[in-house]
Amino acid sequence: MSLLDAAKAVRENAYAPYSQFKVGAALRATSGRIYSGCNVENVAYPEGTCAEAGAIAAMIASGDRRVAEVLVVANSPSPVPPCGGCRQKIAEFADEDVKVTLCTMDGRQRVMTVAELLPGRFDSSHMDRG
Ligand code: THU
Repeated sequence: MSLLDAAKAVRENAYAPYSQFKVGAALRATSGRIYSGCNVENVAYPEGTCAEAGAIAAMIASGDRRVAEVLVVANSPSPVPPCGGCRQKIAEFADEDVKVTLCTMDGRQRVMTVAELLPGRFDSSHMDRG
């Protein structure tokens, strides 16, 4: 299954009664396995979780640790970008040159790298005071 097919399929299961904005995310780990996730909203709005977070949690729970490629899809007018928090979450498990494909449901795509999505990211070196 392609990342696009996986993301579109899981998007159908999104729980988005408040925003009505369903998002699907799929990632391929360096092992080759594909993981997917959808957004899961909550009546206490900040408790909702993004599609990317779900896909990452599924990967970690299954024992994989590194991301080789990511794709996100939603019914948006332009290719849907990961939110700021999800950019940091992706960067935790992906090298800077990893490809992130942003998609609409009607076939438009924009390809970016992790470095482009999150320039100047906070990483563990910032906690290293010698
Ligand atoms: N959403 C995601 O799942 N991923 C993103 O990167 C952008 C936003 C979800 C969160 C919320 O359920 C809905 O889209 C509207 O913000």
